[in-house]
Amino acid sequence: MNKKAILLAGGAGTRLYPLTTIVCKQLLPVYDKPMICYPLATLMLGGLRDVLIISTPKDLPMLQDYLGDGARLGIRIEYAAQPKPEGIAQAFLIGADFIGDSGASLILGDNIFYGRLDFYREALAIDRGACIFGYQVRDPERYGVVEFDEGGRVISLEEKPKQPKSHYAIPGLYVYDSRVVEFCRKLRPSARGELEITDLNSVYLKQNELQVKLLSRGMAWLDTGTQTSLLEAGNYIATIEHRQGLKIACLEEVAFRMGFINEAELERIVDGLPKGEYREYLRLVCAEGPGENHPEPSF
Ligand code: G1P
Repeated sequence: MNKKAILLAGGAGTRLYPLTTIVCKQLLPVYDKPMICYPLATLMLGGLRDVLIISTPKDLPMLQDYLGDGARLGIRIEYAAQPKPEGIAQAFLIGADFIGDSGASLILGDNIFYGRLDFYREALAIDRGACIFGYQVRDPERYGVVEFDEGGRVISLEEKPKQPKSHYAIPGLYVYDSRVVEFCRKLRPSARGELEITDLNSVYLKQNELQVKLLSRGMAWLDTGTQTSLLEAGNYIATIEHRQGLKIACLEEVAFRMGFINEAELERIVDGLPKGEYREYLRLVCAEGPGENHPEPSF
């Protein structure tokens, strides 16, 4: 696997106004940490260590201030601007140099996954084609939707259809082979003026090179697009964290358990943190060591 990761933290966050007046959506709290930690943790748990964060020119400095170059987490983070909201697929054109001739995975900065990530690791192992996912939701019309025939084969992909042909929404997590940039260059903007991720996926589908893996109902894919869903996501994270005494998407812990940083490096981070619950938690993680209990982190 030689894949680069793009984390797209774009958009004006208008639906969350006035919360997004000062900070961008992806830095809003989801319980005890900024939203962007969750998608970044997903990439790291997939084993990806080369990340390009794309955001608006206005929001980039704050994101950069928070995450830096990633060295303290044992990863590399670069940054690039998307000046106008011209579509999710545009991320691959903005990131063309960063991607080079490797494959690429994209995650949207407001998508939260919780559960075993085997489905993602399996997708990342694919050399040719693309892999996206399907997740059953009550309100598919808010998302990209995948339609299957009776044999379970994918027939169509539609972006926010008024009359969805299934209950399977396409989460904002995608894996592509090295042709992704070339395919994006051929896309034309949709009626709303955007390079649609659904159009990119349809190119792979037409060539019979799109896999759609269904996520099991035991996986949580949470939405943060409205005030209510943001609160629900926060409550969900709080519930699990309180129950287990383990944090979800604690980046320093993920870096440590994935072997991106060692004990001495984690200790140094802990010493530099402000006094409080987060520091105490990481101190425990450090004392426990990467641990036999967590050979394959699945948070
Ligand atoms: C985007 C995609 C959509 C996908 C969704 C997942 O929509 O266009 O296909 O299902 O992300 O979060 P957005 O939420 O940006 O409108």
